[in-house]
Amino acid sequence: MPESREAHDEKPEATRAVITRRAFLKYLLLTVGAALSAPFLPRPVFCAPRTIITRRIPRTDEHLPVIGMGTWQTFHVGSDTRLRDARTDVLRTFLKMGGGMVDSSPMYGSAEQVLGYTLERIDDSSSLFSATKIWTPFTGQGISQIMDSHEYWGLEQFDLLQVHNLLNWEKHLETLLEWKSLGLTRYVGITTSHGRRHDLFEKVMTTAPIDFVQFTYNIVDRAAEDRLLPIARERELGVIINRPFQGGQLFPRFEKLPLPAFAKTFDCRNWAQFFLKFIVSHPAVTCAIPATSRVDHMIENMGALEGRLPDEGERRMMIQYIASL
Ligand SMILES: NC(=O)c1ccc[n+]([C@@H]2O[C@H](COP(=O)([O-])OP(=O)(O)OC[C@H]3O[C@@H](n4cnc5c(N)ncnc54)[C@H](OP(=O)(O)O)[C@@H]3O)[C@@H](O)[C@H]2O)c1
Repeated sequence: MPESREAHDEKPEATRAVITRRAFLKYLLLTVGAALSAPFLPRPVFCAPRTIITRRIPRTDEHLPVIGMGTWQTFHVGSDTRLRDARTDVLRTFLKMGGGMVDSSPMYGSAEQVLGYTLERIDDSSSLFSATKIWTPFTGQGISQIMDSHEYWGLEQFDLLQVHNLLNWEKHLETLLEWKSLGLTRYVGITTSHGRRHDLFEKVMTTAPIDFVQFTYNIVDRAAEDRLLPIARERELGVIINRPFQGGQLFPRFEKLPLPAFAKTFDCRNWAQFFLKFIVSHPAVTCAIPATSRVDHMIENMGALEGRLPDEGERRMMIQYIASL
């Protein structure tokens, strides 16, 4: 199921009970009461044994590793224990190598349940920055989705809650901002992808009191450079980049071709690092969230957290090199 499908076309399951905001807040106050009775401390203050590249979340003192992890398709493996254990190795590698943000959604099938399974089996997940979404046209159902997400991930609160693909964004943002004011989530954001609805996206970016935006940007899809990235910078919004490998299409297209010699000068040893360093060297970007089902690919991707990032001139060379292939 490609994420290119418009969320409005989806028919969310109608089986789940619709829960009112009041009932939900009561539920949360009961279940996370212990957590809320302690001061809501900023976290995670990231710390890793080696030097990795991080970016500050705008308007805060919090830094995030510039490479995060997506879960679309790769973590949708159902109840197969062998596959769940393999994904546990992927997430363990991510966190061990200094990863922070993990992005998911109720739209991603069993991904959130699988994340819960993997997190339960990982000794140290203290650097996790948890991000999920609401994805439904129905306001009440959004609330029950978040309740389910808490249960699936096994977390008492999320670091970031986003409105997926702007679906019913006005109502869901109202709810999420209220939760934020109560300390039930630390950040609120909106997402889109594939260059969709950038006009509406811009409008929300410039009018709503959100913290993060998520959209597509990569070396062959640079539409976000025109408006979204400059606006995010001006408005001091955190920027999460989805589809950093164009949904994986960059590999069959380029991997048999030689990496340019200049890539070594900013510490890229493979194409994955070349694609990721192009993205995270944009000054408005906070982190990119590549998805993978493989430990060897995760190790390649996390290599982009190390060394130097290309400067403006080198970024132009990267674009020219790709255009020449
Ligand atoms: N509207 C939205 O909110 C929205 C839309 C789209 C995406 N997203 C988020 O963004 C995340 C990333 O986007 P995406 O998953 O669509 O695409 P992506 O990260 O651009 O590409 C993922 C694909 O790249 C392959 N891959 C990863 N690392 C590799 C490597 N080092 N070498 C070779 N192949 C590699 C993976 O295959 P292997 O498994 O074989 O490694 C996978 O098929 C999603 O998972 C999701 O969390 C959000």
